[in-house]
This record gives sequence, C-alpha cells and structure tokens, in this order.
Amino acid sequence: MSVHQSEDQRKVTTHRLLEMKMRGEKISMLTSYDYSIATLVDGAGCDVILVGDSASNVVCGNVTTLPITLDEMIFLAKGVAKAAKRALVVVDMPFGTCSGNPKMSLEAAIRIMKETGADSLKIEGGLEVIEDIRKIIAAGIPVMGHLGLMPQSINKYGTYNVRAKEEAEAEKLLSDAKLLEDAGCYAIVLEKIPAALAEKVSKSLRIPVIGIGAGGGVDGQVLVFHDMTGITQGFSPRFLRRYANIGEVITEAVKHYVSDVKSQDFPNEQEQY
Ligand code: KIV
Repeated sequence: MSVHQSEDQRKVTTHRLLEMKMRGEKISMLTSYDYSIATLVDGAGCDVILVGDSASNVVCGNVTTLPITLDEMIFLAKGVAKAAKRALVVVDMPFGTCSGNPKMSLEAAIRIMKETGADSLKIEGGLEVIEDIRKIIAAGIPVMGHLGLMPQSINKYGTYNVRAKEEAEAEKLLSDAKLLEDAGCYAIVLEKIPAALAEKVSKSLRIPVIGIGAGGGVDGQVLVFHDMTGITQGFSPRFLRRYANIGEVITEAVKHYVSDVKSQDFPNEQEQY
C-alpha cells in the first residue's frame, strides 16, 4: 500500500470528505462505469467513484454527454454501486433530468437512488438549477455540485475551452459556489477553470472542492478513468496525466490472440478437455 493511500477502510461518507478537507487530506476521485473496473478502483483506495455522464462519450460512443439517458445511467450505476465497498459513489444526473423543474428533478433523483444503491448525485449548474437542488437535498439525497466547464451546456458554450477567465464569469462562478454550499451541497466539482480562481473558491468554502483541470489549490482531484489509463486515444488536454497505456496493452493482446487463433496455436493440448 502506498504511504499516501488512506489506511482507513471504513466506508467513505460525505461527512468524512468534509473531515478530509479540514485536516488537509486531498480527496481522490475517478470515474467508473461498470462492476469490474469499479472493483479495481475501489480496491486501490480511491475515495470517490463517479458514474459520470462522460459514459456517454467513452462507453456509448456519443460525441457529447447529452444523449445518455436516465435508464442508461441507472444501468451503469447499478454495477458500480455493487462494487464499491469503501468509496463513496456519485452518479451524474444526465442532461435534461435536472433543468429547472424541481418536481421532475426529484423524481429522476429518487429513481437513481432507489434503483442503483449509489450514495449521492452530481448536478451541473448553479443559480439556474438551485431550486431543483434544494428539493433533492430536502428529500435526503446528498448532492455534489459541478461548475466551470459544464459539458451538458456545450451547445450554449460552443467549445470545451477553459471557462471563467473573464471577471464577470469568475464572479458568477464564485457566487454560484456559495449558493450551492448554502443550499446544502456536500462538495463541488470545478472543471477547467484558472487555478487561482479554483483555489479562491476552495478557500472561501467549508465544503470540499474537487478539481479537474483546476490546478492543485483545491481539496481533491477527479479524472476520467478511461483517459488516465490510456484506454481512450487521441484526447490529451493539458490537465490530463496518463498513468498507464492500457489501450496499447489491449491492442497488443488482441493482435496476439487473433494471430494465435489463425495459426491454430490457440487452444493447445492443455487448453482443452
Ligand atoms: O462525467 C464526468 O466524467 C465528469 C467529470 C469530468 C468530473 O463530470
């Protein structure tokens, strides 16, 4: 076990994330979309597992996160929740399920919690969805906010470039972050914003701020599993550190297998009954 990996094997709760922030322990978070990978991510000591709507891209092959449905997210989250013995499991509310109609948002939120066994939800947006968030939290469901680059709003932005570089957008982000904390969110993800702004948000909030492309001055980091392990190819934003090249390992293994089948090397005498 790495010296930096938590030796505390108790289930991670929203309260324990708060304690981690208070004692300065950084929070680790990764996405997973199925039982097998979530078992590995959980077993390796990752604190939080996100069933992200990035599944729309890396699992379903869509260009954006918009097409993934509530039913598809629920299907994926069920497997992840079964696997996570220690990690806190967060599920993204997919596009269109939380967008200014609190009653409908609560219905979708309850479906995710009831049908998956996950621990909490993540919702993109600030002021625009604050009533939805209040209603969901009032029903006893923990919510993680998500500000900065919000991929569900790609059609509004037009690009995946760094957000909140201008003062007006930075001020709105800061005020949205405070709004989310006051509404009772237990943490906030900040995606692709200047590091100085992310640090300012983290310092001005009591709840943990988890960054992706938001620098080191926040309380934790999140990456997409398929990107950090090199399963996805050709996506290399500045913030992404690749910890493995599993894409290459899989390609080599499949090539080897195909060759062994063709040459009748596989199966051999020991590999049959
Ligand atoms: O869907 C996702 O994977 C996310 C992360 C990028 C934070 O929201």
